[in-house]
Amino acid sequence: MRSLNVATIRRDFPVLEEKGIIYLDNACMTLRPKQVIDAIKWYYENNCACSGRSLHKLSEELNESIALARETIKKFFNAHNYELIFTKNTTEAINTVAFGMEFKRGTKIITSDREHNSNLVPWLALQSAGVKHFAVPSAENFEFDLESLHKMLDNNVKLVSVVHISNIDGYRLPAEEIIKLSHDFGAKVLIDGAQSAGHIKVDLKKLDPDFFTVSAHKACGPIIGCLFVKKELVDELKPLIYGGGTVSNTTLNSFELINDYRKFEAGLQDYAGIIGFGEACNYLKKVGMKNIEKHEKVLTAKLVKAFANIDNVKLVGMHNPKKCSGIVSFNIEGLASHDVALMLDEARNIAVRSGKHCAHAWFNKNRLPGCVRASYYLYNSLGEINALVEEVSKIAEIAENIKK
Ligand SMILES: Cc1ncc(COP(=O)(O)O)c(C=O)c1O
Repeated sequence: MRSLNVATIRRDFPVLEEKGIIYLDNACMTLRPKQVIDAIKWYYENNCACSGRSLHKLSEELNESIALARETIKKFFNAHNYELIFTKNTTEAINTVAFGMEFKRGTKIITSDREHNSNLVPWLALQSAGVKHFAVPSAENFEFDLESLHKMLDNNVKLVSVVHISNIDGYRLPAEEIIKLSHDFGAKVLIDGAQSAGHIKVDLKKLDPDFFTVSAHKACGPIIGCLFVKKELVDELKPLIYGGGTVSNTTLNSFELINDYRKFEAGLQDYAGIIGFGEACNYLKKVGMKNIEKHEKVLTAKLVKAFANIDNVKLVGMHNPKKCSGIVSFNIEGLASHDVALMLDEARNIAVRSGKHCAHAWFNKNRLPGCVRASYYLYNSLGEINALVEEVSKIAEIAENIKK
């Protein structure tokens, strides 16, 4: 493992230079390297065809590129036991499972109490069909409580669906243990990988979830996602959308679905997105996932330590650098999180996110109106983290003076 050459990496991201911005909103959307942008451009400038339908040369060329991208993405996640289904994003991937699996009246679904709305609302929506949803209460220090999960598991639990790395505070849940324990009770497991994919090394063969979701736009890729489904579950999972490309035959009163990923990819697809997603995997692999993980941990440790020294800055959620990566969330006493975010943007072009981060349930449970979230990635430097600390100190001082 080596440390990242951030200066070299930054040259791959044109927006950084063009806008002179300190971009710390990566949990929402990451920037894209020119390698990914070029791959997307290749499709629009040099191909523009559709895949899997026509027989002409352009289409054949695209078939090869799409097959290569699919293979690259599967390899990146070590997902050869899985079908890879392209989706719009993680939200669509989770909905594919929520409305594609058969959840009978009375069956139970368990999540954590710190889910993004995308991994909460679909399950709450199923309550109208008699499905019961339960949330594992976090321990007092905000860690996932395996003991509580153990107590909640029984034969009626059909699915445990939890976030891998939380978008609230960067806390990495013990996914391996959650999966093993849930499987012992016969429950299937969905891991929401929106914040882990592209930030830590994800090896699906080792991790062994039944479903795993990815948002490529949070990992240097275009706005596209995917759902990995264990091959043996493809038969059981019904498509969310029906249409062209999903069937081997139709008559005026019947249709035969193709029983692989094609069943779920109805209509023409985002070919540029798929190719760009493959290129994002190539890019991240070249930088090295372990290096990225280590870099994010160094920045987390630095930020947590610095914020702990500013009196009226309060860290939000988990902030143990050993268990968190990519995100530090905080509040400045006496100021609303949106005001802090606007001040950071105005004062020094620092882009962060503020509010409830689509995790209203967690903020409501913890009686917090929101927080400021700094989320960083492979191109963020220690200098940028120092700049954030400097600006936050100044704002904290202003807040302190207002109080007096
Ligand atoms: C943990 C988590 N899950 C799900 C989502 C939803 O992702 P998308 O908007 O790509 O569907 C997000 C987005 O921020 C997220 O952070």
